[in-house]
This record gives sequence, C-alpha cells and structure tokens, in this order.
Amino acid sequence: MIVQKTLKILAQIPGWNRSLSLHRTVPLAHKQYLRHFSADGHRLTIESNEIQSDRPHDEKSTPPTMPRPRRKRIVVAVTGATGAPLATSLLLHLKKLDVEMHLILSTWGSATLKYELEAPNNTAAYLASLAHYSYSPRDVSASLSSGSFRTDGMIVVPCSMKTLAGIRMGYDNDLITRSAGVTLKERRRLVLVARETPLSSIHLENMLEVTRAGAVVFPPMMTFYTKPKAIQDMVEQSVRRMIDLLDLGFEDHIHADGDGRWNGFEWKKKMSDEKQA
Ligand SMILES: Cc1cc2nc3c(=O)[nH]c(=O)nc-3n(C[C@H](O)[C@H](O)[C@H](O)COP(=O)(O)O)c2cc1C
Repeated sequence: MIVQKTLKILAQIPGWNRSLSLHRTVPLAHKQYLRHFSADGHRLTIESNEIQSDRPHDEKSTPPTMPRPRRKRIVVAVTGATGAPLATSLLLHLKKLDVEMHLILSTWGSATLKYELEAPNNTAAYLASLAHYSYSPRDVSASLSSGSFRTDGMIVVPCSMKTLAGIRMGYDNDLITRSAGVTLKERRRLVLVARETPLSSIHLENMLEVTRAGAVVFPPMMTFYTKPKAIQDMVEQSVRRMIDLLDLGFEDHIHADGDGRWNGFEWKKKMSDEKQA
C-alpha cells in the first residue's frame, strides 16, 4: 500500500519519468498500478523495467515545476435583448486576453444575431467559434450547472428582462438562469448587461434584488465624453468597462491606451488656453 502511494505521488511530479526506473524485483502489481497515473494525462507504458511516457521529448527534458494555475474562466451568456455587437466584441476581447470562455446562447439571443450583426459573422456558429466551449441553454445537466465547476465569474450580455426576472427569482429552468444562480450562490462575480428602455417598476425591482444578491447590473449606456465617432466606439468603450467589472486583473491592459477612462478636466490646459485667447 505504501509503495503504491509513493509511486502515485512520484507519477504526479512533472518530469518524474526521467529519473525513475523500477528495479526488476518490484512486483508487477505495482507497475500495473502505476500505469494508471500520470500528472499530465499522457499515456504511460512500461518497457522492461523503465517507465516511459508518450510526452514529447522537449517536455520530458523540462525540469520539474509546480503545476501551472489554470487560465481565467468566464461564462458568457447571450440572451434576446438587443445588443449582439456587445456580445461579439466582448468575446473577441476575452479571446485576446486568453480567457477560457463558456458560451450559452439563448433561443432568442440566437434569433436576433442576424438582424444586429453583419454577415457572415452573424450566426450562432460564428459566436460559438469565438468561445472555447458552447452549451445549449436547455442542457441543465452541463458542468456549469454545478458550483463544483470552478469559474471566475459570469456575464450575461445582453441580458433580457425575462432572464433578469428568472435570475432574480432563482427560477433556474434553463442553463443561463441556473449558471447565474450558481455564480451568485458561490459568491462569484455576476455582471448583467441588462437592456430595456424605459424601465417599469418590475424591471427596477428585479435589478435592485439581483444587486442585493451580489450581482452587478450594468446597463449599456452611451458615453459622450469619449467623443465616439461611430457606434463601434461606444460598443468598445462599454465592453472595456464590462471587462473591468469582471475583475480579472486585465484593467491596465484593456485600457492601455487610456480609452474610456475619465481623467478629470484638463483645468491647467483650459486656463492657459483662456490666458492666450
Ligand atoms: C429584435 C428583438 C429585440 C428585443 N429587445 C429586447 C430588449 O432590448 N430587452 C428585453 O428585455 N427584451 C427584448 N426582446 C424580447 C426578448 O427577446 C424576449 O423577452 C425573450 O423571451 C427573451 O428570452 P431570453 O432571455 O431567454 O433570451 C427583444 C426581442 C426581439 C425579437
């Protein structure tokens, strides 16, 4: 038993197979036991008394290191409110930032794509191609349905009033509301890009309750101090703020050019301009 435990631990250290060889007296049972374990999922074989892995040669020569932390993982849900360009822009930004994306597109989210985006990039297949994993909103058996599947948060962009209401009530009858509920119960970041205008007291109360439960409601509002020249400029500005709110640690990177951040009035410049005038 102790031998088997030791072998298991050894097998999980990257680079172990460079130095480990088993003496011929090691019982076959131990060797067979070891066959099941590998730190990186590579197949193990035992040739004579040497244990070999099918890891490529350059990986084999890498010195043992601690396991790398996994990359950031975000659930992106797209529902049937107007705002599909926000969703595609967000997916493109997260892709550049090497964030692992899990996409859930609602039936009505899918239906609005062709009216709001330019062909050929206006289909559910296109959105799915930007994400790493894509799920049916009907599949509440998916990994995202469980808090044991670790994520770094979720964003619903755009978020319809119907989905907002479902999240507010904990009515988890599809994968979007279920994942959002899981995100809240696990105390992870949930951003709802809630889109409707004007707003009824029902919408406002729902927004208040999800905020009390820990979500961030982020209506995609226009900003004029950035002097947008095109709709895409407004989309970009909004999406950068969404990425801020996801709190992934990319704030400086995403605003590297200062885009969208308010830096105060340029009083000194204004005063010297006035003096010169
Ligand atoms: C073109 C179009 C635009 C819509 N825009 C909105 C909107 O901005 N906000 C909203 O709450 N619902 C909007 N709706 C209605 C939703 O699509 C509808 O309530 C749907 O049931 C939402 O379902 P889902 O949240 O599962 O996607 C829109 C529908 C269509 C067809």
